[in-house]
Parts: sequence; structure tokens; C-alpha cells
Amino acid sequence: MKVSIIGGGGLVGSCAGFALQAGRIVREIALIDVNQDLVEGQALDLLHGASLLSDQVISSGTTDLAKGSDCVVITAGLRRKPDESRLDLINRNVSLFKGILADLKKVGLPKHAIVFVVSNPVDVLTYLAAKELGLPSSQVIGLGTVLDTTRLRSMLAQKIGAPPTQVQVTILGEHGDSMVPIWSNAQVAGMPLEKFPGVTPTLIAEVEKKTRGSGAEVIKKKGGAGFAVGVSIADVVHAIALDQRRILPVSSLQTGAYGLRDVAISVPTIVGRGGVHGVVDVELWPKEKMALLNSGKVLRETIDKVL
Ligand code: 2OP
Repeated sequence: MKVSIIGGGGLVGSCAGFALQAGRIVREIALIDVNQDLVEGQALDLLHGASLLSDQVISSGTTDLAKGSDCVVITAGLRRKPDESRLDLINRNVSLFKGILADLKKVGLPKHAIVFVVSNPVDVLTYLAAKELGLPSSQVIGLGTVLDTTRLRSMLAQKIGAPPTQVQVTILGEHGDSMVPIWSNAQVAGMPLEKFPGVTPTLIAEVEKKTRGSGAEVIKKKGGAGFAVGVSIADVVHAIALDQRRILPVSSLQTGAYGLRDVAISVPTIVGRGGVHGVVDVELWPKEKMALLNSGKVLRETIDKVL
């Protein structure tokens, strides 16, 4: 599978490229960026490690390189300032994003291609891509709350001394302030989270608060996310490449599940080679369902304002 990463010269795009290289699953990694020197440097740095990793094709160039891609990951965009919300960022990113979509349409993607939006605000830009690209909406997904879910599981595991890969809790909704952690189904190694030694409502509230602020915290400390968002992107790409049909909280255009319609937002989504293969409508606590509907409302209001 050929994966092109638009914005591949930047921190998010290059970390995604490295995660895909280290994952050894995709066949071709094409880094695309307006800054040609930088993106050539990133590709060269990846290439140098190839003999210890995998027999993949690694390339760099402009948007034309996206031709023939099975999956296009869009990470390009201006980064949030530490005190700026993702939605505030939208006005600065919408025109840039529309230009990228126009270039992709000019290049002409294969009809089976999956477009995977990471640029922020990811839910609004995923909606825009679904409307503008002329691909079936099932083939347009956004990273959504996959990164938030990854962060929450990792930090909760550290807090309670559990293996991070065995902590199961998922965040749905907006990748932003109205995100909704689903505590009603949280588990550690198949056992209820609230029964795990040391878990208290206070601890849960603390980890939730830290997760909500993680994006801004990483921006403040190191300028922006790289490693965790890179592996989160690669996990979704691998579900596509291997047609795994795993349930992931990616963002996509909703048509009624959870009462959400005409908005791109994260719900439990079956992800495979065709992109969205379905949505799993699970029973949530009433307050979780309300919060998810509110998240959809926040995003819908923003779409009405800026698109
Ligand atoms: C974050 O939360 C990049 O929006 C992403 O760090």
C-alpha cells in the first residue's frame, strides 16, 4: 500500500512517516511538503535507517507525488498556540486546507483511495474533505479522538501501575474541548476499571483533566505533538492496510448513529481497507450520550460559522 503524507516535512508528518517505517506494513511512504529541502531531509533520514527496518519505498516531493496513493494522510497546517483552542485555529487553516484539497483533486486519486485528515481542527476539516473531494464519505476519515484515547490509556496506566496495552477506555466526540471519555465501559485486562486497586473517582477525574490538556501541554513544552500522534496515525493506517476491521474512534461524517447527523465526529467505527465499514452504536450512560450530542452541536455550530 502506498501512503502519502501531506505535511511530511513537519513534526507530525515526519513522526507518522517514521511510525509507518518502523511498523513495516505499508509498502511505500511518500513525504509531501511545500518545504522541499525539509521534506527531502526527512525522507533521507528515514531512508538511512531502512537497512535495519524494512524493504519499503521512501520518497519525497510535491503534491504530484500523491498520484496513485492508496491512502493520503493530511497533516499540513498551522499549529495551535498554547493558549489557542483547536477551533480558534480553524480560520487560519481552512483556506490552506481548501488549497490542499484542490491540489489533490487535480492530481486525481485512485477511486479506492482513503483520505485521512489529521490537520486541526480535525473534525471540521474532515467534514470539509468529505464534502469537497468527491470520494464516498466512507473513504474520508479523521484522526479524531484516536490520539486522545491513546493518551488517556497511557497516562491512566502509568497512574494505576497497569500495562498500557491492557487499559481499555475510549474517548468519543470532538478532538477538542468537548471530547467525551466513555468511563461506563472502561476496563483493565478485561476487568472493570473501578474495581482495579487504587482507582478512585478523584484519580479518574485527574487523569481525564490531564488528557484534556495534553495537546496544549505538549505544545507549550516542545512546540507540538510528534511521537504519540505519529503512532496513532500509523495504527489507523495499519487497520486500513491490513483490512483489520478494528473498532477505532476515528472521525467521519455521521448519518444518525448516537443521534449525530451531518457532522464529522468520533464514534466507535469499524475501520478497514474501505475506510469506514460501519459504526457500532453501543449503550452509553445518559450523561455520556448527552455530552456526545453536545459535542456534535459544538462542531455543527462551527461548521455553520466557517464553512
Ligand atoms: C494534539 O492534540 C495535534 O491536536 C493534536 O496534540
